[in-house]
Amino acid sequence: MTQKIVTLITGAEKGLGLLTAKALSKEGQAIVIGALDEDAAKKAVAEITADGGEASYVNLDVTNHDQVKAAGQYFADKYGYLTILINNAGIVTDGQHTPVDVPMDALRKEFDVNFFGSVDVSQTMVPLLKKAENAQIINLSSNMGSLGLATDTSFPFYNFYSMGYGASKAAVNFETICFSKALKDDGIPVNSVNPGFSDTAFGGRDTNDPKPAGMQTAEEGAAQVIKMATRSPQTDSATFSENAGIVPW
Ligand SMILES: NC(=O)c1ccc[n+]([C@@H]2O[C@H](COP(=O)([O-])OP(=O)(O)OC[C@H]3O[C@@H](n4cnc5c(N)ncnc54)[C@H](OP(=O)(O)O)[C@@H]3O)[C@@H](O)[C@H]2O)c1
Repeated sequence: MTQKIVTLITGAEKGLGLLTAKALSKEGQAIVIGALDEDAAKKAVAEITADGGEASYVNLDVTNHDQVKAAGQYFADKYGYLTILINNAGIVTDGQHTPVDVPMDALRKEFDVNFFGSVDVSQTMVPLLKKAENAQIINLSSNMGSLGLATDTSFPFYNFYSMGYGASKAAVNFETICFSKALKDDGIPVNSVNPGFSDTAFGGRDTNDPKPAGMQTAEEGAAQVIKMATRSPQTDSATFSENAGIVPW
């Protein structure tokens, strides 16, 4: 590699994205946080740079097309390319509902951020990824979006619906497969990762609660994304993986 690795992580001012940003920065990657919360992004950039890393942020609500376009321009102007795109920004708004009572608004919001947002960011960044050496896209998915697990009675969340969240992440997985095919000839792998139920503020969980929110630490949740973003060679594409291995689509 002669180019510095430049990495955009959406929603990386906190949670798994921030842990990923810090870990990839330690690997020498220049990190750009795609931020919804500007104050948190400034703090994250200060922490990474204080630790000797290269980091900056762009205001990036992934549902705001003008901001997505402006983020693309930021990379064109500052670096001329983008090496790794990590579509990490995500929301869940329907965890407390069943399919028969979930408000349509909650479903639409989840699709707006999780699916339409990541597609818009990916489409915008593709020309910049094509200018990079060893470019790749990693989409944060979820085991809740696995059709294989949703129909497997031994899956621990078999009886948990979150229909809109799961459907939006299943859509993200289809996005992964389609982008992978579309970018195959450009040598740009596109993969989905399931972080697993991790101790972050995701979905409005209280991170100060002494009882951890997830089934694993946030560090464990970020591990597979970090592995995918640092693996070599990166010949595999259209995979759906987690710490334990391959997840069924
Ligand atoms: N934690 C888990 O148990 C778990 C399990 C499976 C999959 N995941 C996936 O992992 C990813 C990261 O989750 P996390 O646990 O780190 O959650 P998190 O701590 O809530 O982080 C998500 C980040 O996305 C940001 N975001 C929300 N809407 C956005 C938008 N429209 N544009 C840009 N950024 C936006 C959030 O900003 P604000 O906080 O300011 O809204 C936040 O910084 C998500 O895609 C999630 O679906 C998480």
